[in-house]
Amino acid sequence: MTNETLTVTDNRTGKTYEIPIENETIPAAALRKIKVDPDDFGLMTYDPGYGNTASCKSAITYIDGDKGILRYRGYPIEQLAEQSTFLEVAYLLIHGELPSKDELERWENDVMHHTFVHENLARMVEAFRYDAHPMSILISALSIMSSMHADAKDVQNAAARKKQVLRILGKLPTVAAFAYRHRIGRPYNYPNSDLSYTGNFLYMLDYMKQTHYEVNPVLAKALDVLFILHADHEQNCSTAVMRNIGSAMADPYVAMSGAAAALSGPLHGGANEAVVKMLGVIGDEKHVPSYIERVKKGDFRLMGFGHRVYKNYDPRARIVKQIAYDVFKVTGTDPLLDIALKLEEVALQDEYFVSRKLYPNVDFYSGIIYRAMRFPTDMFTVLFALGRAPGWLAQWLELITDEEQRIARPRQVYLGAEERAYVPLGER
Ligand code: ACO
Repeated sequence: MTNETLTVTDNRTGKTYEIPIENETIPAAALRKIKVDPDDFGLMTYDPGYGNTASCKSAITYIDGDKGILRYRGYPIEQLAEQSTFLEVAYLLIHGELPSKDELERWENDVMHHTFVHENLARMVEAFRYDAHPMSILISALSIMSSMHADAKDVQNAAARKKQVLRILGKLPTVAAFAYRHRIGRPYNYPNSDLSYTGNFLYMLDYMKQTHYEVNPVLAKALDVLFILHADHEQNCSTAVMRNIGSAMADPYVAMSGAAAALSGPLHGGANEAVVKMLGVIGDEKHVPSYIERVKKGDFRLMGFGHRVYKNYDPRARIVKQIAYDVFKVTGTDPLLDIALKLEEVALQDEYFVSRKLYPNVDFYSGIIYRAMRFPTDMFTVLFALGRAPGWLAQWLELITDEEQRIARPRQVYLGAEERAYVPLGER
């Protein structure tokens, strides 16, 4: 027996158990041997929100939340943000290695040749009310796409899986752009695969038949970097949903529809939208201290602050802050930035935030950039979803090919009523 074990004594029975330790974890199933009598179910762990439960082995993204480290496939996020492109990062996440020049060219061509969507999908967008939240449209579009690509059901087939990856990455910006144009009552622009991934997206959003239309390269680059920063974040809420649905062997469109639904929540991808709303409510730098006092009293949370994993400055937030200045050179500055900077300054010196290790997260500044680029607030989470798509797909592919994975099925601690007899309605 090696010393890579944990010895546990059950004080109810006095019995001692030896549990193996592998990769700094213990197999939860080993606890089931710990029983008071043979008919017992055995011990389980209780972990709401899965704060200390590893649900998979993964080789995709590494995070050290205390040190503020984020790496995709071993490459530091700072280097990828500075030197790579979103599509190259997508390739890296999905294939595990950086592509050669030829591989990258083929990959970019393949993705850009899957940008057109079925006309029925365009008509589905039409069916939404003018003020429909674009995340509702995106979530619905993904499940409609499931019905349009029957081969997606063949999740055990590697070629079929690869095809859906290209389709999803290619078509998602088109759906997002259609949702936006529908919202503002303008005709759809069909994709232009001569442009870069984010260039084409901006084109579909903005083009109005001008004779000399050009995508602004600074804005396309800023969006590309923001997408890189959002591309994966290991087992976050929406990725866990992608894996959970995928574990039932459902196709990747419906799995991603569920993941996008999770992302739309204000504690997850909806946070950047919430940050901009919050900055608007604060309204002026001079109101920052009183706002912070109300946060400390527990009236509400400071949106864009805190993270389940990072107990240090989110490394992505640092990069986003830099991009803000590049974008403002093109778009002009935004008064909300001054309020955000003041909020950060006050919070980072305040005992409440310091002691709880609450730092700005990636969403604290991304919303301000999107606003400066004239995105309506409710498009922010859609942008997050476009960035996160390769991460969701990489995690889904890893799950499908992992022989240790089974259908996700957590346990519960039942604290409800004991068995009792049904009381007829007239006797209640
Ligand atoms: N403002 C004020 N207090 C906060 C905040 C915040 N933003 N976040 C956490 N706290 C406090 C909690 O009240 C709690 O205090 P207590 O110990 O006195 O009760 C303590 O810090 C720990 O908070 P938890 O809720 O246990 O932290 P958890 O890890 O569960 O939550 C979360 C993480 C959801 C991100 C949280 O920090 C939050 O709500 N932040 C605001 C929303 C946000 O920005 N979400 C984006 C996350 S990043 C992303 O999805 C890309």
